[in-house]
Amino acid sequence: METLLDTQRRLKSLLLMYLLVVKAAGDCPKPEGGDNTVLTNESLLMNVFPENTRVTLECSSGYIKESGSEFITCSDDEWTESELICKKKDCGQPPPKPHMKFNTSEGTLFGALVRVTCEKGYQISGSSYKQCYDQGWSGRASCEIVTCDQPSIANGYTSWDSENDPEYNTAIRYTCHEEYTLIGSDTVLCDENGEYSPDQPVCNEVTRAPATTSRPQDSSAAPTVHRTQTVTTSSIPNLSTLPKVFRGKATSAGILSTTSSSFQGMHDGNVDTVTDSGTVAAVVIGAVVLLGVIIGFILLHKFNMRRKG
Ligand SMILES: *[C@@H]1O[C@H](CO)[C@@H](O)[C@H](O)[C@H]1NC(C)=O
Ligand SMILES: *[C@@H]1O[C@H](CO)[C@@H](O)[C@H](O)[C@H]1NC(C)=O
Ligand SMILES: *[C@@H]1O[C@H](CO)[C@@H](O)[C@H](O)[C@H]1NC(C)=O
Repeated sequence: METLLDTQRRLKSLLLMYLLVVKAAGDCPKPEGGDNTVLTNESLLMNVFPENTRVTLECSSGYIKESGSEFITCSDDEWTESELICKKKDCGQPPPKPHMKFNTSEGTLFGALVRVTCEKGYQISGSSYKQCYDQGWSGRASCEIVTCDQPSIANGYTSWDSENDPEYNTAIRYTCHEEYTLIGSDTVLCDENGEYSPDQPVCNEVTRAPATTSRPQDSSAAPTVHRTQTVTTSSIPNLSTLPKVFRGKATSAGILSTTSSSFQGMHDGNVDTVTDSGTVAAVVIGAVVLLGVIIGFILLHKFNMRRKG
């Protein structure tokens, strides 16, 4: 019996204690962080905030303290006003790397993006952006020198005898074997895009007619071809209105100057038939005229004979 009474008494006192504690603890609500501030982990773990309880605030991730006290206190059922002022952390200039440039026009504060570029003749390897995080700049990158493919020339040799690819701004010299002429520049540079500038030269076999003189002819011939093409194509429909005899002549003249390939077959077929009928007509007319002339001559001769005789 005594033990039962004891337990009852103990439970009563526990209940009393609990009521006292809860009443006293209910004074302030759970505090919250403010602008760019948060409760410390320690304060977050607390559940009850009786009068005069002090909790600690800290700056949010990416922010640092500018001024003010970190503490707020529960006073008369309310938390005192937070005085902690935090500002964005400044990551500063990203650490310099060889041949690397940063565009920090957005600033270097927390959250800012910085564009990473390389100097002329270098290309970026890695991230072309960096961002300012709480821990500092994100993004790894380096600037690698631009290289060109191994130089090559048929029937000749170059000044490059390394197994590595030539780097930006390397000059390569080209020499042709005997009996070959170098066409182009004998020295070219590996440019910032990894191309040879000017183009790599070629070695041509030495001949009577050098390759250089035949090239301009080729290129100047091209526009002429185009012109004749348009003339022939547009004149063919118009020709159908002309008499047959002229048609043949006009088209064959057009064909003489046509050297094109794409329209050639079409024109040939088209023109051949026209030319054939034109020629036939011309021959017939010629024969008729000739016959007329001959008959005329005979008649004239007969007339003369009659006058004499
Ligand atoms: C607070 O707790 C979080 C996880 O709950 C942890 O990541 C962080 O490092 C802690 N901060 C401090 C200051 O201990
Ligand atoms: C940096 O970037 C901004 C826009 O993102 C651009 O207007 C500015 O010209 C850049 N500055 C340089 C030096 O490239
Ligand atoms: C002849 O060519 C002219 C100009 O190209 C065009 O306006 C005309 O319609 C053509 N005539 C015929 C019969 O195709």
